[in-house]
Amino acid sequence: MNEKELSINSLIERRWSPRAFSDRLIEPNKIHQLFKAASWAASSFNEQPWRFIYATKDQPEGYKNLLDCLVEFNQQWATSAPLLILSVASKKFQHNDTVNRHAWHDVGQAAATMAIQATELGLYMHQMAGFDSEKAQKTLGIPDEFEPVAMIAVGYIGDPNSLPDGLREKETAPRSRKSLEDFTFQGKWK
Ligand SMILES: Cc1cc2nc3c(=O)[nH]c(=O)nc-3n(C[C@H](O)[C@H](O)[C@H](O)COP(=O)(O)O)c2cc1C
Repeated sequence: MNEKELSINSLIERRWSPRAFSDRLIEPNKIHQLFKAASWAASSFNEQPWRFIYATKDQPEGYKNLLDCLVEFNQQWATSAPLLILSVASKKFQHNDTVNRHAWHDVGQAAATMAIQATELGLYMHQMAGFDSEKAQKTLGIPDEFEPVAMIAVGYIGDPNSLPDGLREKETAPRSRKSLEDFTFQGKWK
């Protein structure tokens, strides 16, 4: 099998995580389409443990609250994104109050589904672990039964030349992936 010859869905191929965003605002309907796509992800016991806190650039207070949670490295580029989202997980199953071991898995699935929908809409998402989770919990009023998972910058594609030195090169660098044999094992681990 020649891996390079295997074709996959073009939305999956086209999805990537840019750092340069255009200042074009996202149409409200498209924002709702992103969240609707997320809602159709699979989840353990169909608990849908994901929650999303979001703000657009034209909602300066909410936007600043989200931006302020990011580490400096991410702030320098994510500030160009017209939409910031924080994904949040419900720690326990609501149906029996036990720990939901797959909550983060399910929030990740919702984010991945959203990213595919974003690509379909001409939008791009950049997910981030680099943020202060405790600060987000406090400043965004997230209840104790929930925990922040990832920040997400969303927008239309921008000009890589708008990025500071260092990030500009990363934006246009070739992307790489492990080959299938490095992460798939037939029958048992090896
Ligand atoms: C959970 C998660 C956390 C990430 N954290 C950051 C981050 O803090 N800062 C950043 O610049 N990129 C971050 N990324 C983006 C990854 O570096 C990127 O997805 C990876 O290099 C693969 O590139 P691609 O998404 O363009 O295929 C994160 C991605 C994920 C899924």
